[in-house]
Amino acid sequence: MNVVVLLGAPGAGKGTQAPLLATRLGIPAIATGDLFRAAVRDGTALGQEARRYMDAGQLVPDEITVRLLLDRLERPDATAGVILDGFPRTGVQAEALDRALAERAARVGAVVLVDVPADELVRRLSGRWICRAAGHPYHETFSPPRVAGVCDIDGSELYQRVDDRPDTIRARMDQQLGALAEVIDHYRTAGLLRTVDGLQGIDLVAEAIDAALAEAGIRPAGVPGEHVTG
Ligand code: AP5
Ligand code: MG
Repeated sequence: MNVVVLLGAPGAGKGTQAPLLATRLGIPAIATGDLFRAAVRDGTALGQEARRYMDAGQLVPDEITVRLLLDRLERPDATAGVILDGFPRTGVQAEALDRALAERAARVGAVVLVDVPADELVRRLSGRWICRAAGHPYHETFSPPRVAGVCDIDGSELYQRVDDRPDTIRARMDQQLGALAEVIDHYRTAGLLRTVDGLQGIDLVAEAIDAALAEAGIRPAGVPGEHVTG
């Protein structure tokens, strides 16, 4: 089982890169933020609980988040591997993931931190639009859709996330970056952390992620290498 973790601050580009990488590696991208937004949209009890935290820019409690992610990992499409976007987000979540994978005789294979400075994160989030159907992200300046207001990929309507309002963006930075630092430390200590420059264009970030994964022996299907695992 190939488990790739994409780390980054809010707005770093995880949700832009994860689906592209999923296509290249042939395994699904799982974003806890998307799972929570789907639960909010469906009006489930979990969605109502998560929404209180999301709208305030706070992390949803670990217990709820870990259960959500582990349930998702049970689905058959996750057997060969997954790309995790937005999970783990705390040291407790990172440890819970390690334990759950160990029970399956698996482990995290590579961790890529998409590194972007704070002032750029604010610019990216305040100009972001995402699609209703699948959360595909666009940016009004850096990555506009071909037709304004419509997703290039699935044709659904684009909207701005409630938590992309300026005061909530600030709250997310204030309340979440400390926990991200814990997760970075967890994987640095484990010798798994690789960092890519997220300030480059989307295609160059994708190339840098591929290079970082190749160092860890993870390559797109069909690309030759000593330890082909894609
Ligand atoms: P989540 O949905 O995960 O949000 P986030 O981490 O805040 O990250 P974003 O989705 O805002 O940013 P991104 O890195 O995906 O950037 P994107 O690719 O869209 O979580 C939302 C909430 O859910 C959390 O606040 C929390 O409440 C809760 N939650 C989720 N997971 C949780 C967990 N594990 N534990 C607890 N709570 C959890 O890009 C941003 C913009 O930049 C886009 O407009 C894009 O077009 C543009 N862009 C991307 N790349 C580039 C580039 N290279 N150059 C120029 N522009 C770019
Ligand atoms: Mg995202």
